[in-house]
Amino acid sequence: MGHFLGFRMLWFLLIALGIEAQKHSIPRGPNVECLGGLLRLSSNESWSWGHQLEIDAVDGATFLPITMELASQCGFRKKIDHWGNTKLFASVLNCFVDSTDDESFALTVRLRPSGSPAFEVSKTCQYSAWASREIICNENYMEVSVRRRVPTLEDFDLTEHEGVDDDDGDQASSPLKLWKVQFLTGASRTMTLEEAHNAGFGLSVSRTRAVLRSPFDKPEIVMMNVSGIPMQVIKASTYLKRKWMVKLLDSAAACPSGGVTFTEEMITWQLPIRISPLLSSNSPTIFELHMGIEGKRLDASIMAARNYKLTKTNSHLIVEIPVGSVDGYYKSHVFDYQYYITYNIEPMLEVLWREEAMYDDTRYKVLFPIITPPMARPPFIQDYTVGENRVFDLFVGSFLADVDLVNISFTSGVMSVAEANAQGFNVQEHMLPNGFKGYSLQVPFSDPVVHQENSAVDVTDNILLVTFGFVTLPENAPFSHPGMLKASLQDIVLPNVVGTCDQKYFYITVAYGSQGHNFDTVVGQRKLSPDIAEEHRYTQNDTHFSITVHFLAQDAAFEMVWASTLRSRLNVVLRNSVNDWNLKDFSLSCSFPMTMTECFSNGTMTALAVKVESVPDLDMSQLTLKDSRCKPAYSDHIFALFSFGVSTCGTTRKFTNHHMIYENEVSLGSRKAITAADQYLIMVSCYYGINDTYTLPFGTMPNPEPVVDAGMGVFIVRMQLALDSSYSFFYLEEHYPVVKYLREPLYFEVQLMQNTDPQVELSLENCWATSAEERTSVPKWDIIVDGCESLADSYHTIFHPVSADARVHFRSHFKRFEVQMFTFTSEGVALKGPVFVHCDVIICEATSPADGLCSRACINKPTMSTASKKARRSTGNVHMEPVSSGKIVLI
Ligand SMILES: *[C@@H]1O[C@H](CO)[C@@H](O)[C@H](O)[C@H]1NC(C)=O
Ligand SMILES: *[C@@H]1O[C@H](CO)[C@@H](O)[C@H](O)[C@H]1NC(C)=O
Ligand SMILES: *[C@@H]1O[C@H](CO)[C@@H](O)[C@H](O)[C@H]1NC(C)=O
Ligand SMILES: *[C@@H]1O[C@H](CO)[C@@H](O)[C@H](O)[C@H]1NC(C)=O
Ligand SMILES: *[C@@H]1O[C@H](CO)[C@@H](O)[C@H](O)[C@H]1NC(C)=O
Ligand SMILES: *[C@@H]1O[C@H](CO)[C@@H](O)[C@H](O)[C@H]1NC(C)=O
Repeated sequence: MGHFLGFRMLWFLLIALGIEAQKHSIPRGPNVECLGGLLRLSSNESWSWGHQLEIDAVDGATFLPITMELASQCGFRKKIDHWGNTKLFASVLNCFVDSTDDESFALTVRLRPSGSPAFEVSKTCQYSAWASREIICNENYMEVSVRRRVPTLEDFDLTEHEGVDDDDGDQASSPLKLWKVQFLTGASRTMTLEEAHNAGFGLSVSRTRAVLRSPFDKPEIVMMNVSGIPMQVIKASTYLKRKWMVKLLDSAAACPSGGVTFTEEMITWQLPIRISPLLSSNSPTIFELHMGIEGKRLDASIMAARNYKLTKTNSHLIVEIPVGSVDGYYKSHVFDYQYYITYNIEPMLEVLWREEAMYDDTRYKVLFPIITPPMARPPFIQDYTVGENRVFDLFVGSFLADVDLVNISFTSGVMSVAEANAQGFNVQEHMLPNGFKGYSLQVPFSDPVVHQENSAVDVTDNILLVTFGFVTLPENAPFSHPGMLKASLQDIVLPNVVGTCDQKYFYITVAYGSQGHNFDTVVGQRKLSPDIAEEHRYTQNDTHFSITVHFLAQDAAFEMVWASTLRSRLNVVLRNSVNDWNLKDFSLSCSFPMTMTECFSNGTMTALAVKVESVPDLDMSQLTLKDSRCKPAYSDHIFALFSFGVSTCGTTRKFTNHHMIYENEVSLGSRKAITAADQYLIMVSCYYGINDTYTLPFGTMPNPEPVVDAGMGVFIVRMQLALDSSYSFFYLEEHYPVVKYLREPLYFEVQLMQNTDPQVELSLENCWATSAEERTSVPKWDIIVDGCESLADSYHTIFHPVSADARVHFRSHFKRFEVQMFTFTSEGVALKGPVFVHCDVIICEATSPADGLCSRACINKPTMSTASKKARRSTGNVHMEPVSSGKIVLI
């Protein structure tokens, strides 16, 4: 009896409290909706992350926080979505509801937003379309209520009509009350009402209904495979008792715990049509079918607009929902420090069916939260850096709103976002159109967190190593994303080298460039050390340094040797001392005047051989002239000097129209040309013009490598007047003009001076006298014509033999003749006054078979007829030069 009274009293109290609470309804409060057998409270105001909304059930003057246990036992579910919004789902049959006739249900809860005052919210919902059996599958419990009987007014008359009827209409004296429950599934236990409450079950009766509510983690629940879908099933018999009788109500609930398949784009959820544990016999007939979201039905147009599909096969109801649709939300996750997202949506299926044989119908409502498997969303860094701006400009994304950037690590350390902004890195959050967000960051190249490297001689790589530290909310799960950004700038002015030459030196100037003195200078083969710098007269200022290098310095390379020129080259390399890159390769090649061959009038030749870079291994002391016995007079590692007479060391001679040429060669002689590297050959030649002042420009001949060298020299030919026919004494220069009497003979001698070559012969081709100094003046008197004495008058010219003596070493170098003074007549009158004698002198090779005429004084037999034809001397191999006497005055 007491039990019964207590139960009725509780109902009464709840009603009273519900009315009381309504007074405190607050206008800005959350939205509460009536959704059939459910109330849904949605709060989205300002209780964002970190400001959790606590909800208390209101039980009279006490407030009971809706814990997990309370929620599953009493028919509540609290849900916090991605945006931090709290939703509370409450069954209209929850433990704290204030129900009127099982048609009107009032609920009051107290909301406690952290940091704000608590306030109460009340809502009354009407629900009268009860089916015989109503099953709700919520996330944390399943609930089944069955019709007990049609309620009557007596149910509320606790004092006068204690013996309320049961649904048989039996007029008994006392009302039915809950006595015990026998579970038919799983652990199949029987429990008293108290034991069942203590075990977490919710058991109650209202005027018309008996309720069984069970959390999912009970041993009384069994898993069953229903048409391929796993379902959790509970069956129980509830015993209601009054004085003399016991009434038994069977309850069964089954809720799916699977049946969802995923693709990238689509969520498919299947529910069996024949939920066999809930059916007593054959197939049910479906009268109503609804799809909804979070407990709220959707109409067909919204379903179409959102591409939701609800289809029915023979065996299953199939719900299809595109991933990402607006009714769900994405949520961030961190697994193994990696960023993932899931898509969360809570579809609802509501079915009203009736089994044909029975007249009882069942309303079956499943709220089915679905979370897709985690989808990896590796963050990415987008580099918007424009090198010229010298600022790294990057964006890291993309994240859901429940991710927060907390810190940024650089190689120098970690900064909070605030510190990074204080440093000037301008960290900003950006919302993207797709609902994701990202952060931008700007770091100047000049900031110490940026590293500089050189990837090419004139390129600076700016490198930023950065790691962003994030957390997800509200879990505060950390994850990070590292990035490396590189911006290359061609911003280095390389050092540069310029140079010039004069007759002796290379002048090299090096401009430092933008990297300062940070390079090595290699001159030739040697690095420019302080010693070498001093050797090369190093000078410097802030921007440049200069060196002066002699063209014969060991750092120079000799490219080519010409007649009187040495082509010398200086290589200067500027090298990065750190990574050995050549910053600059410079080479300056100049021709410097240098006497390579000297040709002396006495027939001595000197030849200087220089080691050129094409034969680097040459041992200069091994060089010889054509006659390999002729070795250098001096040699070192660069030079070899030869000095030799023109008639020695295999020297050959050659005549051209204008010169006599002595030639020799400097080479390795018998060892020559073993390898290409040994091919060293210098042609040495002296060109002698027969004139004491005549200098011949000599050209360079394009000879084979490595070099050709030609020197030049002169033979001096002298005509002297002897005092007498002994040719022992001569008039000297200071005696001129020499005064002579007519008929006094004149004794001339023509001599090739200084030459010591016995093979050379001097011949007189033509000699004549003029009264003026010019050789070509008229009148003109022949003395020797074509090598023969002139027969123009009876006092003709006489050749005198030459014999060797102290003065005459080579007879062939001399010719002597005698002329009578009165040879010089003009129209029978002897000439008086000045006379000049001129000769054309021929120098030729005495023994040359090609010119046998050379040694013969006169080719043609002298005749009286000057007009007669004369054989001409071949001039192929001879050289004809003029020679003249000084002034002779005839008196
Ligand atoms: C808050 O709730 C109201 C009414 O339920 C809705 O119109 C609004 O869009 C919600 N705002 C947010 C941010 O969820
Ligand atoms: C459920 O039962 C069906 C046959 O009825 C079977 O094909 C299927 O593999 C079962 N599924 C599970 C999860 O046991
Ligand atoms: C930076 O953030 C990451 C990720 O949230 C975290 O793991 C790390 O401890 C933070 N570092 C510091 C120094 O705060
Ligand atoms: C430094 O030397 C270079 C080359 O000799 C010259 O062009 C430049 O003007 C000098 N600069 C100063 C500041 O003296
Ligand atoms: C020839 O003249 C040169 C230069 O005057 C001299 O050095 C050399 O010894 C002379 N040679 C002879 C053989 O007299
Ligand atoms: C030597 O040659 C030059 C040039 O041809 C000439 O002018 C000069 O008179 C010549 N000297 C002698 C002594 O013949």
